[in-house]
Amino acid sequence: REYAIATIPADGIGPEVIAAGTRVLAAIEKREGGIKFNIENFDWGSDYYKKHGIMMPTDGLKQLKKFDAIYFGAVGSPDVPDHITLWGLRLPICQGFDQYANVRPTKILPGITPPLRNCGPGDLDWVIVRENSEGEYSGHGGRAHRGLPEEVGTEVAIFTRVGVTRIMRYAFKLAQSRPRKFLTVVTKSNAQRHGMVMWDEIAAEVAEEFPDVTWDKMLVDAMTVRMTLNPRSLDTIVATNLHADILSDLAGALAGSLGVAPTANIDPERRFPSMFEPIHGSAFDITGKGIANPVATFWTAAQMLDHLGETDASARLMQAVERVTGAGILTPDVGGTANTKEVTDAVVDAIYAS
Ligand code: NAI
Ligand code: MG
Repeated sequence: REYAIATIPADGIGPEVIAAGTRVLAAIEKREGGIKFNIENFDWGSDYYKKHGIMMPTDGLKQLKKFDAIYFGAVGSPDVPDHITLWGLRLPICQGFDQYANVRPTKILPGITPPLRNCGPGDLDWVIVRENSEGEYSGHGGRAHRGLPEEVGTEVAIFTRVGVTRIMRYAFKLAQSRPRKFLTVVTKSNAQRHGMVMWDEIAAEVAEEFPDVTWDKMLVDAMTVRMTLNPRSLDTIVATNLHADILSDLAGALAGSLGVAPTANIDPERRFPSMFEPIHGSAFDITGKGIANPVATFWTAAQMLDHLGETDASARLMQAVERVTGAGILTPDVGGTANTKEVTDAVVDAIYAS
């Protein structure tokens, strides 16, 4: 089985973690036998922007379309505004390829001491499903009377019946595939009385298609409390683009660090390549120090293997990662003293030893 993978390391620690992830994929290829990754690298990102005035070539999506998956680092640079880096590279790929389901698993890995009391390895076994194509990040809005005292800025959230129904179906289906068959639908339908109320209504409609899935509803503010005070009461979670963005950063922190939190941007209909990346950004504060935690980038490679149908290889990779974290080979963000290379070497060894 051959897979064409596009790597886009981009900015900051992106190239450091994608280099580590590429080594681990090479180890999987050798260990499994019968799998081949044809990897092509793209140098798009903030440095490209400084040379060309754009984050990627105008035919960038056309170049990516032929790949089976995209393996992405992070965007963001101290000297390019964040809305340019984000809207110039990551969002056009998510939106252009209609990767409407953003899937963010969490779990406390062995060896990692989480910040919450009463939580340990295996806990916080959640999957957050983030609506990834519309909502608060649809880009609608504008500014009037720029710079004047009467200036107004609007940021319009757009929710469509098609968009909400498809993400809700995806989330119910995912919940159904997990042992607890339990879904929590997050909105803010008390204060936001149009699109959010529509979310609640569509959730109830889609729920009828999944009689074996138990579900409940939460307001997003109360959800932060439930995640911290009653974390075992949750399993699969679905929320809007903005709400899930925030909740999943919280989930990452509760699991020990953003450096262990992966994410998959999925086109469930498989018309286009899906994109796999760590949740974290370019982390300028540690760029070049060689201490970026590569675990999120390894975990998202496991998500990629799953998506490609290589479930055995995916399981082998995650077992290797858990063996290494369990042995206390950890980067400083999760309390260890190892660097990126040492963690990567250990995961590669664990793959060969498995
Ligand atoms: P960040 O995720 O880059 O860093 C937040 C904190 O977590 C930093 O202290 C950083 O050192 C630490 N951290 C993150 N990943 C780590 C890892 N793998 N290992 C160890 N420590 C890690 O978020 P921040 O600082 O708010 O943003 C920096 C830049 O990244 C900004 O330009 C922002 O726009 C961009 N960004 C890009 C994202 C993406 O490409 N998907 C996501 C989030 C932010
Ligand atoms: Mg975020």
